[in-house]
Amino acid sequence: MEAIVENNTFKIGGELEVNRLGYGALHTTGRGGYGNPENKESIINVLNKTNDLCVNFIDTADSYGPYISEEIIAEALYPYNNKTVIATKVGYERPNGSWIINNDPKRMRKALEGSLKRLKVEQIDLYQLHRIDPLIPLSEQIGFLAEVQKEGLIKHIGLSEVNLIQLQEAMKHAKIASVQNQYSYGNRKWDDVLDYTTDNDIAFIPWYPLDAGSVYGKQKLEIIASKYGFSSHQIALAWLLHRAKNIVVIPGTSNLKHLEENVVAGHIPLSTSDMDYLNSAL
Ligand SMILES: NC(=O)c1ccc[n+]([C@@H]2O[C@H](COP(=O)([O-])OP(=O)(O)OC[C@H]3O[C@@H](n4cnc5c(N)ncnc54)[C@H](OP(=O)(O)O)[C@@H]3O)[C@@H](O)[C@H]2O)c1
Repeated sequence: MEAIVENNTFKIGGELEVNRLGYGALHTTGRGGYGNPENKESIINVLNKTNDLCVNFIDTADSYGPYISEEIIAEALYPYNNKTVIATKVGYERPNGSWIINNDPKRMRKALEGSLKRLKVEQIDLYQLHRIDPLIPLSEQIGFLAEVQKEGLIKHIGLSEVNLIQLQEAMKHAKIASVQNQYSYGNRKWDDVLDYTTDNDIAFIPWYPLDAGSVYGKQKLEIIASKYGFSSHQIALAWLLHRAKNIVVIPGTSNLKHLEENVVAGHIPLSTSDMDYLNSAL
């Protein structure tokens, strides 16, 4: 069976061209996205290696650390090469490590100022609402993002963990360039949102693409992995990249070898019969 030919890049918002194998920066901090990383030097090495390997889409959030992830990204990668696209998020506060949503526009503006400063940029490439705040009208939350976009402080607007109704509602108030929802080979809860984003040329950025390292549905993945001499983690990423042309994956790692393996996964051609086999019931 012929290999499926995949596009290796996607244009976020129709213009920011990124390698579809990106990097998730949750692990540039301490455990649970809180505090300093155990080994800062090795994280800096991993981030530098993303540059060498042409991984040019980096996903972070002001709440990772908090603040530490954005700082460490700038420390490693600034001045950025002109192909680097950094996506950050706003919405969570981290009192004592907990995750509290607060999308009060005044607070978000302060948070944005902080992200711009820490990332050392004048404009955020992709600014994602980490969660919709159930206590504030959605129109106000998206209205804030549209306002700072107009001011030139952010280039594109993204959402995270939204259902189809929320996405369509948000699209009435601003152009939405990306959706970041939990999705993986073994967790396809958001198939409807993914299909909608594919049809509307919106980037779909699955978080936990490796189920935080556990990789659900391992049995079938391992069969394909052993057929080609790859790992089940690599096949899980390759499956995502074959699942839809608008998927940009952001596996998180603090390990250089894993980063290299993930980059290889970005080039694994799965055949139609491999995909049929993987897509049949888990
Ligand atoms: N929007 C949201 O609400 C949300 C929520 C969570 C995460 N995120 C984003 O999504 C990104 C991905 O999520 P995640 O990093 O938590 O989970 P993940 O990518 O599903 O899995 C990361 C785990 O897999 C391991 N790993 C990575 N590559 C591997 C490989 N080739 N072989 C074996 N193990 C490998 C890593 O360990 P090593 O360090 O040992 O490699 C790490 O423990 C985050 O970094 C963050 O940017 C967003």
